[in-house]
Amino acid sequence: MGKFIVEGGNSLEGEITVSGAKNAALPIITASLLADSPSTLLDIPALRDVINLCKILRDMGAKINRDGSTVEVDPRSLHKSEADSELARQLRASYYILGVMLSKNGKAKTSLPGGCNIGNRPIDLHLKGFKALGAEIELNHGIIEVKADKLQGDKIYLDYPSVGATINIMLAATKAEGKTVIENAAREPEIVDLANYLTVMGAKIKGVGTDVIKIEGVDKLQGAEHRIIPDRIEAGTYMIAAALSKGDVFVNNVLTEHVKPLIAKLHEMNVNIEEEIEGVRVSKTGELEAVDVKTLPYPGFPTDMQSQMMVLLTQANDSSLVIETVFENRFMHVDELKRMGADIKIDGHSALVKPGKLTGAEVAAADLRAGAALILAGLVAEGETEIRDIFHVERGYENIANKLSGIGADIKKID
Ligand code: UD1
Repeated sequence: MGKFIVEGGNSLEGEITVSGAKNAALPIITASLLADSPSTLLDIPALRDVINLCKILRDMGAKINRDGSTVEVDPRSLHKSEADSELARQLRASYYILGVMLSKNGKAKTSLPGGCNIGNRPIDLHLKGFKALGAEIELNHGIIEVKADKLQGDKIYLDYPSVGATINIMLAATKAEGKTVIENAAREPEIVDLANYLTVMGAKIKGVGTDVIKIEGVDKLQGAEHRIIPDRIEAGTYMIAAALSKGDVFVNNVLTEHVKPLIAKLHEMNVNIEEEIEGVRVSKTGELEAVDVKTLPYPGFPTDMQSQMMVLLTQANDSSLVIETVFENRFMHVDELKRMGADIKIDGHSALVKPGKLTGAEVAAADLRAGAALILAGLVAEGETEIRDIFHVERGYENIANKLSGIGADIKKID
């Protein structure tokens, strides 16, 4: 159980490089099992969630080799359709094994997924999709089993554009018979990245990035080489760090179209952002204007950036309103920020953020993005901040302390 010690007040300067996206890497590594030959995946971040997923897939028989950020997955020795329950509980994305193994072997079994405790997080929409494709579902003592003699394409309307459900149904449908149409599908860039990989493998998918995805099932998929997109949430976190410190930072390896909702808000706040080919420069930040923020499915403002944005809003010139519409329990950073002197009032799904100085304190990361927000708060706070439970942060940020130290932050990891 490590902790971060952050001494606030440094101005950040220089270049910081973003890793491959966790939320694209997890479904893509799992999807590589669909092929009859090995895949080479580039820019896979070395994160706890990725390491745990690889452990699960190895236990199922896949051969996985890692060389730096390149991961080779050979699915030919796969001998199980069942994920180890103990490991599967540790990461939410383990449920992608259901869609993949249902498609590949007609059956799959895993425990109900874990991940960040940011709300109820049911998986009813995933299961609704599997059922529509002809699967039978059994749920016993937290273990889910899905089975189908044959998967048959169908039209599936999602009541909410869920990222996980869209991905899982897409995975199940790639080898189903006939055509599957997912309506009100999620449009997140990670879904487009997965579809690009599946297409190179031989899948027939149209419409990703819109709210109607059409999949024509195929018999066979072959392994492929694929580079994971940059992590837009990691990029956004560093952009906010730069703005908070009023520094001059080039955030390298960013697809700027993926961070448009954040760039738009930062512009409104008076943060100067230059979009370049390889990334974005954040510099010459003036007095921060207060703005209101409402989280929404992509291309709206991402819920995964809400806590970090809230820290920036504590430094604005007036009060701001933050409305969280995606998850019901995503203000867990607020109590910790209050320990650091923040003036924030929660009313249901809304938080009123009043401007004020932050001071160092002992705090704990309640989830992944809450932990990132506390690091940001520590960077701008007066004095020392000690952040516990950093395993949450390490589920989603590769080498965050080293990367931030590289641009001048005073942050140390203590094991
Ligand atoms: C993914 C991301 C997470 C991000 C979220 C929203 C991964 C591993 N995680 O999570 O970082 O915050 O997208 O951008 O990619 N819902 C249902 N029934 C379902 C599925 C979801 O009601 O079957 C609800 C959820 O409770 C939540 C909302 O839909 O309120 C959004 O969830 P979803 O888009 O599925 O998020 P995840 O895939 O869990």
